[in-house]
Amino acid sequence: MRRRRPTTPIEGTRWSIQMTDDHSRTLIDPVTGVAFHSASGGFAETKHVYLDNSGVSERLRRRQTTAVLEVGLGLGMGLLATLDAAIVHCCELRYVAIENNWLPAEILQELKLDEFLTKPSLASDFCAWRASLGPELTAGRYQRAFEPLQDVTIEHCNAIDWHPPDETRFDAIYFDPFAPNVNPELWSTPFIKRMRGMLVPGGKFVTYCVNRKVRQTLADAGFTPQRVPGPIGGKREVMVAKC
Ligand SMILES: C[S@@+](CC[C@H](N)C(=O)[O-])C[C@H]1O[C@@H](n2cnc3c(N)ncnc32)[C@H](O)[C@@H]1O
Repeated sequence: MRRRRPTTPIEGTRWSIQMTDDHSRTLIDPVTGVAFHSASGGFAETKHVYLDNSGVSERLRRRQTTAVLEVGLGLGMGLLATLDAAIVHCCELRYVAIENNWLPAEILQELKLDEFLTKPSLASDFCAWRASLGPELTAGRYQRAFEPLQDVTIEHCNAIDWHPPDETRFDAIYFDPFAPNVNPELWSTPFIKRMRGMLVPGGKFVTYCVNRKVRQTLADAGFTPQRVPGPIGGKREVMVAKC
C-alpha cells in the first residue's frame, strides 16, 4: 500500500510542500504527481545520488578543487548540500546550476533547508540572494561568491540553449531535470552528448533514472552507464555514467 506523506498546498501555485521520509521538504504537484525529490527522503537522495556517487563528497574531503554542473537547480538542495560540504572542508568549489524557473524566495524559505546544513545560514543567504533579484527574473547569468573559495553561478535559461561561457570542464554533472516523460528534450542523445563534452576525462555524470531507454541514450552519447545501489529506503538503483 502507498504511504501517505503530509502535504501543504502553496497558494497561487500548482505546488504543495511534501514532507519526505528523512524530514526534508520537497515540492509536489498533487495533480500530476511530478515532484522535485523522492518522497522516501529528499535530502538523503540528494546526498547519495549526487554528492556521493559523483565522487564530489570525496573530492571535497580531500580538498581537491572541484567544479560541478547541475542541470535543474530546483529547490537548491544539491547546491546547498555541496556548498556546505565545500565550506566545511575549506575546499575550492565552482558550482554552476542551470534552471529555467528559479523559484521565488517566498517558496524557498518554506522548505527549511537550513535544518540539514552544518552552516545553516547558507539557506537564508540563498533565499536572500533570490529575493534581491525580484519576483520576475529574466533570463541571464547570476553569480556570487558565498565564501572566498566557493563560487556559484545560476544560469537562468532553458538548459537546451545553454553554452558554457568559457573552457572550464566539470568534474561532475548532477543531472536532475524532471523525469524523461516530463522533460524529454533534456534526456535526448544530442543534449547528453553535449553534457559529456563538458566533463573532464574521468568525470562523472550522475542521475536518478536507470531505465533501459536512458541507459541506451547514455551509451549512444559515449558514456559507460552503470547502475549502482540507490539510497537506503529509496530507489533500488541509480545511475553513474563515466566519460
Ligand atoms: C527535479 S527538480 C531539481 C531538484 C534540484 N536538483 C534540487 O536539488 O532541489 C528539476 C528542475 O529542473 C528544472 N528544469 C526543467 N526543465 C528545464 C529546462 N529545460 N531548463 C532548465 N531547467 C529545467 C525544473 O524547473 C526543476 O526546477
